[in-house]
Amino acid sequence: MRAISVCVGSSCHLKGSYDIIRIFKELINEYNLDKEWELKAEFCCNNCRNPVSVRIEDSKPYSVDVDSAEAFFKEKILGA
Ligand code: FES
Repeated sequence: MRAISVCVGSSCHLKGSYDIIRIFKELINEYNLDKEWELKAEFCCNNCRNPVSVRIEDSKPYSVDVDSAEAFFKEKILGA
């Protein structure tokens, strides 16, 4: 099982972490990936100046906002 981690630290929370988690959850369901990908919340990973931090496994934090969440998922998860 691979993991997508979304930061829910206070700065990312204000920028929409929970909306991004909801979007990723819907996409995981839509593409039947719940056996392959697990969604996790994590605390601040020191990338607060950017949009919401999302990590895939142990990657560096990517910066994702609500508008780019679906495209990010398609590129990094479906394309992985
Ligand atoms: S609160 Fe998300 S990186 Fe700091």
